Formats: sequence, structure tokens, C-alpha cells
Amino acid sequence: MTKYTSDYLRVSQTAFGQGALSPGGPQELSEILQGLDLTGKRVLDIGCGLGGFTCLLSKNFGAAYVEGHDVVPLLVEEAQRLVKSHGLAAEVSCKLVAADGNIAALDDSFDVVFSKDSIIHIPNKAHFYREIRRVLKAEGLFVASDWLRSDEPESEAMIKWRKGSGQPEPMVSQTEAKTFLSQAGFEQIELRDRNPWYADFIPQEIAAVKRALENEQMSSEVRELFEDRLSSTLLKLDLVKAGEHRPTHLRAFKPNT
Ligand SMILES: C[S@@+](CC[C@H](N)C(=O)[O-])C[C@H]1O[C@@H](n2cnc3c(N)ncnc32)[C@H](O)[C@@H]1O
Repeated sequence: MTKYTSDYLRVSQTAFGQGALSPGGPQELSEILQGLDLTGKRVLDIGCGLGGFTCLLSKNFGAAYVEGHDVVPLLVEEAQRLVKSHGLAAEVSCKLVAADGNIAALDDSFDVVFSKDSIIHIPNKAHFYREIRRVLKAEGLFVASDWLRSDEPESEAMIKWRKGSGQPEPMVSQTEAKTFLSQAGFEQIELRDRNPWYADFIPQEIAAVKRALENEQMSSEVRELFEDRLSSTLLKLDLVKAGEHRPTHLRAFKPNT
């Protein structure tokens, strides 16, 4: 599992923006939610991280209540701080949950389950997708972004990048993700490949990390973290350009039966 420390969070937020541990910022969130209306909805955010996207679900998309779940105490503390600073304590709640593969929520309790680039970190995806279906109300929507891969066997470069970036298990392919959703009982499953977008976007991550290395004061330990991030992101860019690393938007409905 990734080792989250305050220095790691500094590096990640340099690459991804304030309050984010994944790429694209508010614009990418709008892409994930394109055409959807969250007004009045109860939304669960799986893997809320620092809470940046969790807050936006309420602030920009009108969700009535957003519950963020994460398994790392430091991240949940930061997320709670962010919620408070946005004055959203009544609408957004970020909770520390167990990393046992279950979702700490009642059956049929959310209109929408959202997740941004977090399901990649959860080991038993077949079970986890059944959990998502369980906590959704009938006709509820699962809407997410996740880091998936092509159907080809993993390359050596992919294994190197994956292990170096704290991802212990192989990523699932787009085909496998669709199968998990279908086997969990979801319908109207849609996947949108974001690989071309990400190939264009990664140079911004690289530039931000380089700018920090050139201009910011940092200890030698922190410099090492920035340098590691730079090499890992350059490797990721190759994997994205080669089509092996495929960020993907997913949507699926729980049927009314
Ligand atoms: C790449 S970060 C994305 C965080 C946030 N969604 C964002 O986009 O900024 C992945 C997050 O998933 C969390 N995570 C890992 N395993 C989890 C689990 N079983 N349940 C909930 N969150 C989990 C990590 O702690 C981390 O915060």
C-alpha cells in the first residue's frame, strides 16, 4: 500500500492539485459526471483521499449529502479539515473505514456511489462491486473513474511502474471491470476510455513536479520523493502512450429488482 506521509501529500498535490491524489482536477470531475444531476442525492465517495473531489460533489454538483470513505487516518483527517474549511460540515462527512473489502454502509442507502481512481487499490474487486450494488438503492448509479489496463499481459515496464507506485496487484483490464460489474448484477454498463486524454494531460503533471524541483525549498529527503515521482510519472507516460495504462470512466445502474 502507498505510504502516505505529509511529504508524500506535498508531492502528490504538486502533481495533481490541491486536495487531489489523482489527476484532472474539477474539469475531469465534470467529465466523469457529464450529463448527470446530483441535486438532492445521497452520494458515497469510495476512497475520498484528501477530500477535494468529495467537497466538489456537494459544492459544484448539488449533492444533498456526500459521505467519503477512506482507510488512511492521515487522509481522513485532512479531508475533514478541508470539509470544515469549505463550510460543508452539514453536507459532507469523511469517515475512516476498515480496509476489509466491505463497505461500511447499510443496504440500499445511497442514490449514487462515486469513486475517483481508488478501486484500483482494492484487492477483491468481484466482492467489492457486489458491495457497491448492495449499498445502492434500486435504480441507483455507480459512477467512477479507475485506472485500468489493456487486455494484453502486463509488460515488464508496467510491473516496474506498478510496484514502484505502491500498487501491489495487477490492474484489472477494461474487459474484466465490465465482467465484474455485470456479475455483480449491474445493468446499462458503460465504459469511457480516457487513455487519449491522459496521454495529453500527463505532461502537465511532469511540468509541475519539475517546477517544484527547480523553484521550491526542500530537504534532501523531500527532493528524493519529488525525483522518484518524476521518474515514475515519466514511466507512466510511456505506459499510457503505449496503450497499456488506460484510465477509464465507468457507469452502471442497479436494477429495480
Ligand atoms: C489515488 S487515491 C484517490 C483519492 C481521491 N479519490 C482523489 O481522487 O483525490 C486512492 C485512495 O483510495 C484509498 N483506498 C485504498 N483502499 C481503500 C479501501 N479499501 N476503501 C476505501 N478507500 C481506499 C486510499 O487510501 C487513497 O486515498
